[in-house]
Amino acid sequence: MERLIPVINRLHETFAKCGLKAAPVDLPQITVVGSQSSGKSSVLEALVGFDFLPRGSGIVTRCPIVIEMMHVKASESMPESVSGDAYVMFLSRPGELFTDMDVVRTEIAAQMEKVAGSSKGISPTPVIMRVFSRHVVDLTLIDLPGLTKVAVGDQPEDIEKLVREMILAFIKRPNAIVLAVHPANTDLATSDALQLAKRVDASGIRTLGVITKLDLMDDGTDARDMLAGRVVPLQHGYIGVVNRSQADITASRTIASAREAEATFFSSHPLYASSASRMGAAYLATKLSALLMEHIRACLPSLRSQLETLLAEQRARLDILGPPPPLGEGEGAGGALLQLLTRYANEFGAALDGRAGGAA
Ligand code: GDP
Ligand code: NA
Ligand code: MG
Repeated sequence: MERLIPVINRLHETFAKCGLKAAPVDLPQITVVGSQSSGKSSVLEALVGFDFLPRGSGIVTRCPIVIEMMHVKASESMPESVSGDAYVMFLSRPGELFTDMDVVRTEIAAQMEKVAGSSKGISPTPVIMRVFSRHVVDLTLIDLPGLTKVAVGDQPEDIEKLVREMILAFIKRPNAIVLAVHPANTDLATSDALQLAKRVDASGIRTLGVITKLDLMDDGTDARDMLAGRVVPLQHGYIGVVNRSQADITASRTIASAREAEATFFSSHPLYASSASRMGAAYLATKLSALLMEHIRACLPSLRSQLETLLAEQRARLDILGPPPPLGEGEGAGGALLQLLTRYANEFGAALDGRAGGAA
């Protein structure tokens, strides 16, 4: 995902220079849909790269968790009290900096308890947090409660409908990229995740299939048919991952160690070794970057027309002012815009074609 940083920064900078106030690109939000304990929080955590999302068996994610990743530029300094490479702030705790990810996880759980109660209740009120780091892209990821059929504890009888509607509210947004998360050890043909994703994205242009728990399949079964789209076809296909198990979480296995174990699992597996380069969380991040690039590319025509309108306005203003004094090359409002348009075409084109380390 770090490869997206220069492209997105350049978009922001160029539009700021042109005086466009609105965000130049409606940047995508990454959402997850899947049944309870399918591994949604684990998958998001692998993408975020920080170990702070509450995970575990049963209903752990009980309200939406909105994670706004904020890129800290090289020219900006990190707050003095921050020694690591990231810090977190919560919307409901203004002014407070969190640097210890264990404390962040505890704080998320506490805020979740505040909105959803201490038992198994759920709430549509989101916990909103920002992660500041030089190593992240300006992106929003949204963790969501899982689909469930049967009410437990003090959950209302209509829990299934409540969760469904909560998820739909996020995944129906046109700028939502939907990770449809499905565990390998259950039937994909009846996947709730895929059904719900199809409802908001029938052609599958913003849906990516993620098959988790490949390590938990019964002996003699494998996920090759699922992964190849032979069970349920999906436009952008499926990526298989192995996240940390409950035992790994209990033993505080690090993200880095989990990723190594995942790579070893695939490269040494008799059936998956030949496609190991297209498996795992790192490959998921690559696929996601490509989808984000496509989204930015799809926005370019509208960006260009915004710039052209501005240019026409500036030209009209120049006409009213009468013949301009002689200008040096690239000077003056019209010149600056023209220059920017040219730069925009060259640089974004290059970045989007992957020549500047863009799309994978
Ligand atoms: P969520 O409810 O969909 O957010 O799922 P979580 O991410 O909280 O994971 C639920 C449980 O499944 C946790 O105990 C995880 O450790 C475990 N888990 C998730 N993915 C995998 C996986 O790929 N392999 C194994 N063995 N366990 C997993
Ligand atoms: Na869970
Ligand atoms: Mg979860």
